[in-house]
Amino acid sequence: MSEYIRVLGRIGRIPDFIAPYHGFCETTRGVGLLVGRITDAAGALAPTLRRAARDGARAGDLGRALDGFMAEMLQSGAVASDLGPGNVVVAPGASGPRLVLVDGLGDRALIPVRQCSSLAHRHWLRRKHAQLSALIGAGG
Ligand SMILES: Nc1ncnc2c1ncn2[C@@H]1O[C@H](COP(=O)(O)OP(=O)(O)O)[C@@H](O)[C@H]1O
Ligand SMILES: [Mg+2]
Repeated sequence: MSEYIRVLGRIGRIPDFIAPYHGFCETTRGVGLLVGRITDAAGALAPTLRRAARDGARAGDLGRALDGFMAEMLQSGAVASDLGPGNVVVAPGASGPRLVLVDGLGDRALIPVRQCSSLAHRHWLRRKHAQLSALIGAGG
């Protein structure tokens, strides 16, 4: 939740590449964070990036979506603790697929260096970009 507030403070809105925030709720497992449900064109849950890549989504389309996603992460300063392919889903967009982070927003490090340093954030994103590009087969 603190990262949602941080991003709002930085750029004045919650960008489309992060699941929209809807508040809190009580659950049988403790406090829950309510976020928007990201869907595919048919209204079902959007596939994760891992599944889309495995199911043969076009690498060029996913690569473009990944480039846009990473550029927005950098511009907004939004920090993620876990940018794995199971925490990013592929949603339909106006001009091809777009990626949305559904889990792992925020920095869980004891000393949240990436929240304080845009250089550290940039380096981290570059590494994640390369890893996810390799996964979808879109090169480095
Ligand atoms: N807001 C959402 N919209 C669509 N699918 C979601 C959303 N949140 C989670 N999912 C789906 O549920 C899976 C597990 O959710 P996640 O929050 O990553 O939990 P965990 O990592 O603790 O298992 C994701 O990989 C994704 O497929
Ligand atoms: Mg997850």
